[in-house]
Amino acid sequence: MSLPTPAPATPSPGTRELRTALGRFATGVTIVTCRDTPGAPVGLTCNSFNALSLEPPLVLWSLRRASPNLAAFVGAGHFAVNVLAEDQIELSRRFASSAPDRFAEGVWHDGTGGAPLLVGAAAVFECETVSHQDVGDHVLFIGRVLRLADAALPPLVFHGGRYHLLGEIL
Ligand SMILES: Cc1cc2nc3c(=O)[nH]c(=O)nc-3n(C[C@H](O)[C@H](O)[C@H](O)COP(=O)(O)O)c2cc1C
Repeated sequence: MSLPTPAPATPSPGTRELRTALGRFATGVTIVTCRDTPGAPVGLTCNSFNALSLEPPLVLWSLRRASPNLAAFVGAGHFAVNVLAEDQIELSRRFASSAPDRFAEGVWHDGTGGAPLLVGAAAVFECETVSHQDVGDHVLFIGRVLRLADAALPPLVFHGGRYHLLGEIL
């Protein structure tokens, strides 16, 4: 059996090619939240979330440096990662849009440090921010998981710039 030949590597990929190739890596979809200093809830759709360490329990995600919410996440000290279930696609769209009050939809309650937790999420990680650093055009956040809730619901999937449901296990 012959393996498919990968497209030739380019020495320095353009942003479009990079984005397209990175899109081959299927991810879940999360809404990462915190509470800003005046006390308002803050959140955005995010698929850069990933596991980093089991002992200690660490996770990571990145926020574009131009985000109007950067100061809130840097100052908050805590954040929550809400892993979206397959029926929460509209919330994903909402939290990636310019909707004025993103939290007007969904059922939310306060977690550690006031970070909003989403009822019906597949899993929720409440984290203390242990570091944030500028990396390229994003800021990399690393958090220590203080608490988690695992509803074991089927997740929403993002691949190739589109939403998917999990396929059957072959
Ligand atoms: C599936 C998906 C994943 C995303 N992942 C990220 C991410 O990891 N980091 C990021 O900064 N923006 C990400 N975005 C874009 C933000 O959700 C979008 O730019 C949002 O408007 C940012 O909110 P803000 O402008 O309030 O920061 C993602 C969008 C989608 C649809």
